[in-house]
Amino acid sequence: MALYSDKVMDHFQNPRNVGKLDDADGIGEVGNAKCGDIMRMYIKVDNGIITDCKFNTFGCGSAIATSSMATELIKGKPIEEALQLSNKAVVEALDGLPAHKIHCSVLAEEAVRAAVKDYYDKNGIEYNPDEFQLHDCEHCHD
Ligand code: FES
Repeated sequence: MALYSDKVMDHFQNPRNVGKLDDADGIGEVGNAKCGDIMRMYIKVDNGIITDCKFNTFGCGSAIATSSMATELIKGKPIEEALQLSNKAVVEALDGLPAHKIHCSVLAEEAVRAAVKDYYDKNGIEYNPDEFQLHDCEHCHD
């Protein structure tokens, strides 16, 4: 079996929603301390729905593929649903990732959550801080 699924290769080679939203309602930036990769996610929210989102990453191919898929999964969805998006769901939607690349998908999940948190903060919306705990990623690495 190939190391990467066709879907991973597709989203890596033709990433969706790459770029920046100048009028973003929420921006999340997260970094992976071990590999040094950085991810920035922009969301536009209207009436509680994510109407648009884009991402930029200084990251590996798996980070690009997982962020691309994450934007596809949250676009058009209620913001609460985006908050529930797990890296596992992103990996499943991509038909899997090699075990040593799972931590890259965590970066995508955390960028989405950071963007939602930024949106909540900017709009004075109350939330449970526990929902924004970052993963302990130590176990994700080789
Ligand atoms: Fe850093 Fe993939 S190796 S995000």
